[in-house]
Amino acid sequence: MKHLRVLVLLDPELMPPPVLKGHSPEDRFTWKTEYDVVSTLKRNGHVVKPLGVQSELKPIRDEIESWRPDVVFNLLEKFHGKTMYDQNVVSYLELLRIPYTGCNPRGLILARGKDLSKKLLAYHRIPVPAFQVVPVGRKIRRSAKLKFPLIVKSLSEDASLGIAQASVVDNDEKLDERIKFVHEWIHTPALVEQFIEGREIYVGILGNDRLKVLPVWELEFGKMPKGALHIATEKVKHDPEYQERRGIMQGPAKNMPPELATRIQRMAKRIYRTLQLDGYARIDFRLTDEGVPYFLEANPNPEIARGEEFAEAALHTGLSYRKLINRLLLLAIDRAGKAHDDEEDVEA
Ligand SMILES: Nc1ncnc2c1ncn2[C@@H]1O[C@H](COP(=O)(O)OP(=O)(O)O)[C@@H](O)[C@H]1O
Ligand SMILES: [Mg+2]
Repeated sequence: MKHLRVLVLLDPELMPPPVLKGHSPEDRFTWKTEYDVVSTLKRNGHVVKPLGVQSELKPIRDEIESWRPDVVFNLLEKFHGKTMYDQNVVSYLELLRIPYTGCNPRGLILARGKDLSKKLLAYHRIPVPAFQVVPVGRKIRRSAKLKFPLIVKSLSEDASLGIAQASVVDNDEKLDERIKFVHEWIHTPALVEQFIEGREIYVGILGNDRLKVLPVWELEFGKMPKGALHIATEKVKHDPEYQERRGIMQGPAKNMPPELATRIQRMAKRIYRTLQLDGYARIDFRLTDEGVPYFLEANPNPEIARGEEFAEAALHTGLSYRKLINRLLLLAIDRAGKAHDDEEDVEA
């Protein structure tokens, strides 16, 4: 691949140092993704400039005009500290007509709304858990469709923020308490959802028009404390010491009939297309004992640190981390080329 000038947009607090030496494991964990991406881009021979962005758009425009990157590698997940604003930054990149990695703004909006995405998918007969949204300051009038146990989460936040064992409730009193918790601590509407007992399944996808589906991946819960539910809480996802202690591991789903794996992969592709995703994404399911994969959420621009689910699943198909990072750049450039062709068609 040609060597490119790559502007990497990232959270200024996660600006990776040039070398790992001298940094504690805790430090390394905080900016691991940023470090992995920036150092791999460099190893791939690209000229790389990381830019911390959080409350001003002007530096992005200035860099694009003065430094003239070929492509932007988008690692931003927030703007003004808000997850919901990430798509606005991507919209800005789109208007500046600079190729960028990851998902387009429409896909980000559709996938981020955990209610909207499920409504769209239910129309296409994809199994989704029954749910109800409770706006901030309101109380729930539980619909007859929602039977205990239920799980209560934030409507729009991700990364398991606010997800704990206490998120799963089995009576109205606990339900009210947990809704209040989401409203007061996460400051977003609450999503009350049917709890789906089953396996935790992830499917990575790469592509714009032609899609590459990665193998069906599973988060295994090893030795959880007695009575603990097998769900991806904040601790399960982000505490390496806890993962080690509890034997929490991710890998290719074991004991899965090939027909079922193919069905899940096909479903993941339909979801990707329905939600207008492109670039790369990870689709999450809960798979019941009866073999029904329930859609949980779509994650456009998922975690791509080396060793995490997406990169590991890619590696399993022979796509090394270096190749994966280059592939994301190529997808960005390919999409921008097509957008440009369309504009020429209109002008002609
Ligand atoms: N309806 C559900 N049934 C069973 N488990 C769920 C359900 N919703 C969420 N979970 C558990 O909580 C985790 C986080 O929920 P998710 O909706 O993916 O939020 P986030 O965006 O924070 O990742 C899931 O990975 C899963 O383990
Ligand atoms: Mg999730």
